[in-house]
Amino acid sequence: MYEEIFKKYTPEKENLIYILHEIQDTHPQQYISEEAVEWVAEYLQIEPSHIFGVLTFYTMFSTKPRGKNIIRLCESPPCFLRGSEKMLKRLAQLLKVKAGETTSDGLFTLELCACLGVCGNAPVMMINEDVYGDLTEEKLDKIIASYTGGEK
Ligand code: FES
Repeated sequence: MYEEIFKKYTPEKENLIYILHEIQDTHPQQYISEEAVEWVAEYLQIEPSHIFGVLTFYTMFSTKPRGKNIIRLCESPPCFLRGSEKMLKRLAQLLKVKAGETTSDGLFTLELCACLGVCGNAPVMMINEDVYGDLTEEKLDKIIASYTGGEK
């Protein structure tokens, strides 16, 4: 199941992060399962507990199944001061989930993250690879609608 990914990397501990990234990116639910951890541990000859430690340390990894679209809302101070909390409330209201949860239709997972590096456009969020800045509630509504087949 993970052979295709393992073929690209020699079984060295230094490749752990790359392998985990590929496993997560190629999983339809964008996460790393316990089973995947066991496979990687065997391939790299390291303890599964070490891998779980890495997965917990880096916020970009998830050990829980996630939605098709990952929303990452920045909660670092510049974004916070410019209203990220209000954006979080609006997203929660629109999607009917709290931070860390996935919508019942599996379309979105809402996550909080640290600075995305575009503080000049605070408040900021990313959906998958796309960055959206200068957020307002109205803008949020349109962005979310564009992912649900509604008006952009
Ligand atoms: S603080 Fe939000 S993008 Fe930098």
